[in-house]
Amino acid sequence: MKTNKTKPMIIAMDGPAGSGKSTTARMVAERLKLPYLDTGAMYRAVTLVAIEKKIPLTAEAKVAALAAKIPLRFGKLKAGEQSVWLGRRNISRDIRTPELTAQVHHAASSGAVRSKLVLLQRRTAQIGGGVIEGRDIGTVVFPDTPYKYYLDADVRLRSRRRYRELKAKGLKATFAQILKDQKERDYRDANRKIAPLRKADDATLIDTTKLTISQTADIICDLILGQKPRLKSGRN
Ligand code: DC
Repeated sequence: MKTNKTKPMIIAMDGPAGSGKSTTARMVAERLKLPYLDTGAMYRAVTLVAIEKKIPLTAEAKVAALAAKIPLRFGKLKAGEQSVWLGRRNISRDIRTPELTAQVHHAASSGAVRSKLVLLQRRTAQIGGGVIEGRDIGTVVFPDTPYKYYLDADVRLRSRRRYRELKAKGLKATFAQILKDQKERDYRDANRKIAPLRKADDATLIDTTKLTISQTADIICDLILGQKPRLKSGRN
């Protein structure tokens, strides 16, 4: 799907962890037959490689050098799932462990790393467009796209979603700990000096607290296709 003959359609989806952004972004991409780009997976992959190469995560220049030549590849989006590859190695699971999640903020708060990954994100999406998901897509990576959505939800609900996910995977977790982690991540994302998480002025805010993923995807697809949304999009 293209906006016109020359410009690929870029759909920016930002928001905090647990807002339903990833699942919604994948659903929107599948419905609109657009590629999907998970930019969080890029920060995670760089963190994984740095840890495995024993490069301190605070050594910005070295981590940025890794980011500049990371052989990252994404599998085809299929039934809401997408694999992430480092060369021939499938790193889909390795980049989502709680240990790695606790470390990824180093790469995300480094200007040197961000500038390399932003270049990669632009290069990847500029060819065929896509649904690009992250924290700074509407503000920094693709500020000119007219399709910007910012998903948010109550922090307790986001934590409850995460708690259920971990329990379903058989992982040990307490709700209190997850809520605390979530608040810390929100604070870090919103308060870092470079490209902090914030809604672009011209982004549509969708509060997903009372919406299912499918309802959220309906609203976004309807807005994109220029129709009236089927449901009110919360605080907008
Ligand atoms: O969405 P996620 O949890 O997979 O993101 C992983 C980390 O990367 C998280 O700390 C937020 C950060 N991130 C970012 O700073 N900018 C993006 N565009 C995407 C993710």
